[in-house]
Amino acid sequence: MILFAPNSDSNEIDPDVLEGFVDEVETIFSPKGIFSAAKNFEYRPQQQRMALEIARTLTREDHLLVEAGTGVGKSMAYLVPAIMYARATGKKAIISTNTINLQEQLIGKDLPMLKARLPVDFQFAMLKGRRNYVCKRRLQRAFQQADGLFTSPELEELKRIQAWAEETEDGSLSDLSPEPDYQVWSQVCSERGLCAPKLCGHSSDFAKTHGPCFFQQVRSKLIEADVVVLNHTLFFSLLGSLDKAPEEGILFKKDFVIFDEAHTLERVASRHIGVSVSSAQIKFALHRLWNPRTQKGLLSQLRKAASVELTQRALNATDEFFDEAVKQCDQLAEKEQKKSYGGKGADLESEPWRELK
Ligand SMILES: Nc1ncnc2c1ncn2[C@@H]1O[C@H](COP(=O)(O)OP(=O)(O)OP(=O)(O)O)[C@@H](O)[C@H]1O
Ligand code: SF4
Ligand SMILES: [Mg+2]
Repeated sequence: MILFAPNSDSNEIDPDVLEGFVDEVETIFSPKGIFSAAKNFEYRPQQQRMALEIARTLTREDHLLVEAGTGVGKSMAYLVPAIMYARATGKKAIISTNTINLQEQLIGKDLPMLKARLPVDFQFAMLKGRRNYVCKRRLQRAFQQADGLFTSPELEELKRIQAWAEETEDGSLSDLSPEPDYQVWSQVCSERGLCAPKLCGHSSDFAKTHGPCFFQQVRSKLIEADVVVLNHTLFFSLLGSLDKAPEEGILFKKDFVIFDEAHTLERVASRHIGVSVSSAQIKFALHRLWNPRTQKGLLSQLRKAASVELTQRALNATDEFFDEAVKQCDQLAEKEQKKSYGGKGADLESEPWRELK
C-alpha cells in the first residue's frame, strides 16, 4: 500500500483536532475498541500499528509505503484513518485498487460496515470512467441516425441497450449483461467532447422528459463523497488528462491518495502516462466516419463522396504505415540478434511492436 498526502496550508487544520484523530484511530483498533467488541472481529496488533502509522503520516502530510502480509486486514487499517482524517479536515480520500474484486469488497462490504460502526458519518462513491455510462442524448441521436450508422445486428443491439437504459438504476456497463457490442456502445456512451450538461443535465428540459443523466448524477455524488474508490487505470488516465493538478490536490481540489495492490502501479502508470497509438485505434476512429465493409458511418449521413474517399485513403495509409513500422522494427531486431547470438533467429511474433498492428 502506498499513501500520498500532498502538502496543503496546514494552518487551516486545528492541531488539536489532528492529535485527537491519531488517538482515536489507535483506540478503534485497540483490544477495547469498537471492532474488538464486534462479533467476528479480533484484536490484531499489526493492523493497529499500520492504522496508527497511516494516521500519523496523514497529519504530517507525508508519504508512506506499507508492506504487510495477507490477512492482516490492511483495507480496514487504511480505511479507518482515511475516513476519520477526511471528515476531520474536509479532504477527500481517494482509494485506488488494481482489481475489480477489491473495489467490490470495499464498496459492497468494508465501507458499508464502517459506515454502520464508526463514530463519524461519511459518504462514499465509486468512480468509473465516463465511457462506462450510457448517454441518453447520444442514445436518442443514435436512433435518429440508425439507418446510416448501424447494420441490422447492430440495430438489434441498440434496441437492447435502449430497453435496458429505461430500467437500469445506475446506467453503467457493469449493470448490462451480456456486455454490449463495443462498436454500438461507443456510439451511445458518455463522451467528454460531446457532453453538454446545459442541454441535458439535471435541470434541463431533456432531463424532465428522459429522466436525469446517469453520469451527471454520479458526478454530484462524487462531489459530496468523503471517500472515492477507483482503479489504478482510471487514476492514471485522469492524471494524464489533467493539464495541471488541482490546487492542493491530485485529482480533486483537496485530496490524498491511497494505492492498495500497489505492486502493479509501475506497469499501469507507464501504460497510461506514456503516449501510445496503434493501427486498431486509428482504424476504430476512421470506421466511425466510414466503414467500407458495412458501408456505414457518420459520413453516410452527409453523402459526401469526397470525404468517404479521403477516409478510405487514410485507412490504406494506416495499413501501409504500420506494416512498414513493424517491418523496420523486425529488421532492426534481426540485426541485433545476429550481433549478439551469431545469427540465431529471433522470435519476432512475440515482440512488443507486433501490438502496433
Ligand atoms: N481485526 C479483524 N478481525 C477480524 N476480521 C477482520 C479484521 N480486520 C479485517 N478483517 C476481515 O478480514 C478480511 C480480509 O481483510 P483485508 O482484505 O483487509 O485483508 P488484507 O490484509 O488486505 O489481505 P490481502 O493481502 O489478501 O489483500 C475482510 O473480510 C475483513 O473484513
Ligand atoms: S449531460 Fe452529457 S452524458 Fe449526460 S445526457 Fe447530456 S451529453 Fe449525455
Ligand atoms: Mg488487501
